[in-house]
Amino acid sequence: MWDVRSKMTPAFASAEGGLFSSVEKADVGDSYQTLAENGVALMGWADPFMPDRSMPPVVENAWLDAVRAESAPHYTAPIGNPSLKRAIARKLSRINGLEVDPQRNILITPGSDSGLYFALLPFVNPGDEVLIPSPSYPNNTLDVRIMGGMPVPVELDPARGYELDIDALEQKTTPRTKAVVLTHPNNPTTTVYSRNALEQLAQFVCRHDLILVVDQAFEDFTFDNEMVTPASLPGMFERTVTVFSFSKGMGLSGLRVGYIVCDDHIMDALYANAVAVIGATSTSAQAAVLAALEHPEFMKEFEAAYDRRRHIACRILNSVPGVHMDMPQSGFLGWIDVSDLGDSSDIVAYLVEHTGVSVNDGANYGPGGEGHLRVVLGVYRSDEHVEDALTRMADALRTYPAERRRP
Ligand SMILES: Cc1ncc(COP(=O)(O)O)c(C=O)c1O
Repeated sequence: MWDVRSKMTPAFASAEGGLFSSVEKADVGDSYQTLAENGVALMGWADPFMPDRSMPPVVENAWLDAVRAESAPHYTAPIGNPSLKRAIARKLSRINGLEVDPQRNILITPGSDSGLYFALLPFVNPGDEVLIPSPSYPNNTLDVRIMGGMPVPVELDPARGYELDIDALEQKTTPRTKAVVLTHPNNPTTTVYSRNALEQLAQFVCRHDLILVVDQAFEDFTFDNEMVTPASLPGMFERTVTVFSFSKGMGLSGLRVGYIVCDDHIMDALYANAVAVIGATSTSAQAAVLAALEHPEFMKEFEAAYDRRRHIACRILNSVPGVHMDMPQSGFLGWIDVSDLGDSSDIVAYLVEHTGVSVNDGANYGPGGEGHLRVVLGVYRSDEHVEDALTRMADALRTYPAERRRP
């Protein structure tokens, strides 16, 4: 048989997790649908209130109006709705401490995954090393690999709440180090990095003349923690590319809108290649997220639900011997240490089979992830539904069979 993979770049030739993978993945094939049809509680898909309704009427109406307008089937010209960019600039000033020119410093992207890829693309030459505090969002690693770069995980210490460790970053720095990618707040650990740690990171990045790419998809609900935008720290705007999303905080993932914010000199190069690499964003979806930005009150209800659920999850899961969950610092994820019980991949499989609850294996989030489960607490509208799934999970973990347990 013709070996078409031999024609591919090394990253694609060695890629796993596609059609022929034996690993069941929700985003490839029909495993997600099969689980849903079998009544499994899907707590591994980081999408607010999925599969229930999440769109507030004010956004829905704006979207419907935009769909009926003549402009709906056309490209937005210029790329990026100018009113949306102005609203984003106001939000960046109000919330992120960034004063930007809407037409020069903001690029609207079809979701932030493509934004994250595009943010890294100008900087990663084959062989360049990119430091990735770990565990973190798997796409950070994948993106760097696709570009021929070398992802360098820097393991964070759970005993320090997964706070940034500048000494560990220093130890992994070489003459080939080009950039740091930071998911802040972090997915999966929910860590909101402290101002002090981010200031040290900024000094480290400047000292080694690096680029910082920050993914702030989860910036919206940080509970009692201060959310500092690293690009707002002195000297950082010119070397930081920040990626934002409407998917998580606003629960509008299906609209596929995100945005990149950076200095003019970086943006100049991005704009020159934007249409070729990421294409355009839906015209009507941009109108809908503009309404969400102008009327963000609905997010208060989201935050209250996530706050309730993080307390519920800690109460239920921490009652199980050998299981530990720190109070989530942000968002709607839970990060659970099951390392005393057994292998996390095995536990994930066991939970689907015996309790009908699907969660994520921490091993997928890089070094430091094994022995953990990621649970999405923000799914479903009803707290009871989530509480019921967590209780079933806890019961199964409490009676996890001796022969599967870690000796
Ligand atoms: C940390 C993080 N960043 C970015 C994304 C991508 O989100 P979207 O492309 O929907 O904006 C996700 C989605 O799961 C995520 O968890």
